[in-house]
Amino acid sequence: MVEFPPLPKVPYHVGIIMDGNGRWAKRRNLPRTMGHRAGAENLRGIIESTVEFGVKILTIYAFSTENWKRPKTEVKGLMSLLHYYFNRELDELLKNGVRVRHLGKMDGIAPRTQKEIRQAVEKTAHNDRLILNVAFNYGGRAEILDAIRQIVAAKIPPEEITEETVNRFLYTAGQPDPDLIIRTSGEFRTSNFLTWQAAYSEYYITPILWPDFNKQAYYQALKDFSQRKRRSGGLADEEETGSFSVEQKKTAPKARFFCWNEFRVFLKYKRKPKHHQYHKYRQKEHRAHIIIHIRIIFHKIYRHLRRR
Ligand code: FPP
Repeated sequence: MVEFPPLPKVPYHVGIIMDGNGRWAKRRNLPRTMGHRAGAENLRGIIESTVEFGVKILTIYAFSTENWKRPKTEVKGLMSLLHYYFNRELDELLKNGVRVRHLGKMDGIAPRTQKEIRQAVEKTAHNDRLILNVAFNYGGRAEILDAIRQIVAAKIPPEEITEETVNRFLYTAGQPDPDLIIRTSGEFRTSNFLTWQAAYSEYYITPILWPDFNKQAYYQALKDFSQRKRRSGGLADEEETGSFSVEQKKTAPKARFFCWNEFRVFLKYKRKPKHHQYHKYRQKEHRAHIIIHIRIIFHKIYRHLRRR
């Protein structure tokens, strides 16, 4: 058995976009559904490794709201795969202390499958070694829309809506955002996966097709993550002091600012931000804009209702 040295930093929450099942099957002259089946079988080992590596939450993208557009036979195959998966793996999940949670909409899913999802969630509710979020009939935008609808229904005054409010109404309520998102099969897309939650996640893209993604490849992804410096809109740890010698300050080129945010970074750290740092500020600003827009919508609805 291969031994994996302990990692200096392990992500708390990992998301996986399990892509490449179709290509895996095609290379073997098999129908696409066989690729999905091989993908489902691969999950057992990956879940075991997740527990072993010390990751506490694993979110897997099993069926997206866009996957309904696939041929009927493939959709049917993916639906019955969930039934097959829970029938075969529920005991194993219970044994490993895995708690199953469902992220996504129940609408459109056959009543029998809905029942199986609920049963898996209920039966494993007491487990606490690993949370396995199964994103099934999931879409990031649909999730944000659902949250907006619930916030409106709860009549929360616009000025009280914060990022925390939105978090409370997401399918992942109560869970921290993913630290790392792995995408297999080499595509550089986020595909509507954890759209809100992934604002500051690190991405790791590997060309390996999902059914071939094994413990070694998983370890590699975690190792890569452990070597990254996360800034979350601020500056990396060793840059945070912003301490520059007087000489450095004298010789530093004059800063030209393109916008208010660049200037803010300069005021805080006494130097002009590097491009990627400024970019992080823009991401944060983007999130703040979404909040402002939600507030405006609420305010309009509120005024409209009052006028009636
Ligand atoms: C994308 O591969 C993968 C999916 C649409 C489904 C992922 C599902 C599994 C791995 C099975 C686990 C499922 C359950 C229900 C537990 P693709 O078909 O887009 O691959 P391609 O890009 O090579 O065509």
